[in-house]
Amino acid sequence: MDKNFYITTPIYYPSAKPHMGHAYSSIIADFFARFKTIDDYNVYFLTGTDEHGLKIQRSAEKAGQDTLKFCDQISKTFKDLSKILNLSNTDFIRTTEERHKKTVQYLWTELEKNGDIYLSKYSGWYSISDEAFYNNDEIEELEGNKVAITSKSPVEWIEEESYFFKLSKWEKPLLDYYEANPDFISPASRKNEVISFVKSGLKDLSVSRKTFSWGIQVPNNKEHVIYVWLDALTNYLSALNYPETKDRLFKKFWPASIHLIGKDILRFHAIYWPAFLLAAKIDLPKKIYGHGWILSGEEKMSKSRGNILDPLEIIEKYGLDPLRYYLIKEVSFGNDGNISQERLEDCINSDLANNYGNLCQRVTAFASKNCNGRIPSSVKFQTDDLKILNKYKDNLGNIRSKIDQQDINFYIEYIVNSLFEANKYFNDQEPWKKKDDLIRLNTIVYTTLEIVRKISFLLYPIIPESSLKALQIFNLSKKDIKLESIANNEFLVKDKMINTIDILFKKIEKKND
Ligand code: MSP
Repeated sequence: MDKNFYITTPIYYPSAKPHMGHAYSSIIADFFARFKTIDDYNVYFLTGTDEHGLKIQRSAEKAGQDTLKFCDQISKTFKDLSKILNLSNTDFIRTTEERHKKTVQYLWTELEKNGDIYLSKYSGWYSISDEAFYNNDEIEELEGNKVAITSKSPVEWIEEESYFFKLSKWEKPLLDYYEANPDFISPASRKNEVISFVKSGLKDLSVSRKTFSWGIQVPNNKEHVIYVWLDALTNYLSALNYPETKDRLFKKFWPASIHLIGKDILRFHAIYWPAFLLAAKIDLPKKIYGHGWILSGEEKMSKSRGNILDPLEIIEKYGLDPLRYYLIKEVSFGNDGNISQERLEDCINSDLANNYGNLCQRVTAFASKNCNGRIPSSVKFQTDDLKILNKYKDNLGNIRSKIDQQDINFYIEYIVNSLFEANKYFNDQEPWKKKDDLIRLNTIVYTTLEIVRKISFLLYPIIPESSLKALQIFNLSKKDIKLESIANNEFLVKDKMINTIDILFKKIEKKND
């Protein structure tokens, strides 16, 4: 059976340059994409930019630029960032592309054909910053201004002719769907807020705007542009060329395995998106995962709050892999997390430099001196060796199923423990005292090298560049990394030369050290 995996990040607003919150969504998606790749899945990993709507139009006006030129520029910074973050994305979609426009207009026509769209008049609150409509009970007064309670973004009253989507009609089918598919909205803690919102009653949704033009036109009515969220969400289909089926992308990868998003855009993904799809008779994605926020102090990091931590500055100072490792390890996945340079430095020094880097250096230096720089060939495993080696085989099924539940916390803990045990094994076995028993010495070295290999495979989705650097010890490259092989205790070819490698992670001198 074909194993296919389709993962998406949110498409980012190119209204300002990317920040750590965006980098976080992308790095997490890349982690899953790389994990599935080494587990022999065909992976489609999509990211991109969400370029229509009033928010972008106004940002361009403010910058005194033509809207598309403005988008070109900032979208490029996101595309560049995907390279800088070493994302393994298959595709980068821009909603201003023709392929996207075609799919959006097609979907609109389908919704209309199925009787889910009608023309009426909208009057209510709208936040340009969130590109969202709010009910009266979702608004509060803050320092004399009306704002949305959840995001604190200013709202304005709008009244205009608009097309509506019959969202109310899908209230019951959505609730039934959540019930029948308990993992559809994850983590579980986010599910209740969605269900109670739907239960409180869904009103039909305004899905077009008439007072500005920066968007995709409603088919057969040039006066209206399609609501930016209906436009944006459709990117997940347009990247697969829906409804075109000749190239089989849609058939192969839809329904998406997981839409990874931040918790602030859960309503759009867990309510509106499935309702649009139900109405268009398209299968629903398998999972919507709403991760937490990267906080700066106690607040969400965002441009409008002016508390941005620039991922580029951090990468320049510490390197990419330390940042990737840190975000994946220290922000407990699913929850909000504070990021601090001090904790990042601790991670580099203790986990990466001491526990991983040092282990690689120690065992290769020892093998160079005592095993002629080769992978030992006369090896006879004893209980201690098999105990530590077999842990990987015994946990393989568990690792896979934890990843299918997005339990990154388990995964990273497994690696941290494995590194600790590997170092302890090498210390306790004292191969330097076994020079009179070469089989024992060789076996300890072989076992430790095998563990370095297995851990490097597991670290690949988190710190791809450093893992590949470590795997040069064995002349292994990307194509050799197969998750399945962590169950093999004799993967390394005996008697082959090993390479010594440069230091993997430099320790950070801390002021109070
Ligand atoms: N354009 C929409 C998404 C459309 S998807 C069809 C959007 N864009 S955004 O640029 O504002 O945000 C993109 C993602 O970044 C969202 O998932 C959001 O939750 C995430 N983050 C923005 N700030 C964040 C943090 N401070 N921390 C973590 N993620 C945050 O919404």
